[in-house]
Amino acid sequence: MVADYSVEGGQETVKQIKAKGGEAIFVAVDVSQAADVQKMIKTAIDKYGRLDILHNNAGIEGPLGPTESVSEADWEGVSSVNLKGVFLGSKYAIPQMLKQGGGVIINTASIAGLVGFADMPAYWASKGGIVLLTKTMALEYAKKNIRVNCICPGAVKTPMLDRFTGSQPEAENLIREGAPWTDGASRKK
Ligand SMILES: NC(=O)c1ccc[n+]([C@@H]2O[C@H](COP(=O)([O-])OP(=O)(O)OC[C@H]3O[C@@H](n4cnc5c(N)ncnc54)[C@H](O)[C@@H]3O)[C@@H](O)[C@H]2O)c1
Repeated sequence: MVADYSVEGGQETVKQIKAKGGEAIFVAVDVSQAADVQKMIKTAIDKYGRLDILHNNAGIEGPLGPTESVSEADWEGVSSVNLKGVFLGSKYAIPQMLKQGGGVIINTASIAGLVGFADMPAYWASKGGIVLLTKTMALEYAKKNIRVNCICPGAVKTPMLDRFTGSQPEAENLIREGAPWTDGASRKK
């Protein structure tokens, strides 16, 4: 089941899955809203009878700038999608996973949840929070056969990264140079 704030993007993803012979449905959700998240979980259970894997992946970056420049509204907006979204998704998925005897929760944090970065404090802090929330839930539910992990990607070229770099080749190259697996070959193209 594909769940996203973007109806257009979600429907396009379903189309691509179906074109490759898969089965998928789309549900529109704002992961920061409890009622939406409850509806998302209920839709999955009604349609498929169980819930094996929840991937809490939605995220927004918020504005770029040092801590004193961040408005309260931006702080709350980023935190409620990135961190509260992971909490809500897990909160409403876990009862079904307990009922069926287990499940898997995967949260997308970031390399920025492990080390410090400057100038997007709400985003980096939310990713650090996801790492700790993941550890907490992993401990809480390990004995109940629910595995909770997070993944901490480095830079991946997606619309989010394009917004961050402004699609500027210089900015993209700077990020590539920081990646340990890069030999510079892609930079010279
Ligand atoms: N791109 C990177 O370099 C990178 C690195 C580390 C971690 N991440 C993380 O990976 C995840 C995916 O990011 P991405 O790079 O694909 O970003 P993206 O902006 O390309 O995609 C984010 C998706 O989340 C959806 N979304 C945003 N707010 C939502 C909300 N309130 N409710 C439901 N859906 C919502 C968007 O519609 C979009 O489909 C994020 O959690 C991001 O923080 C990305």
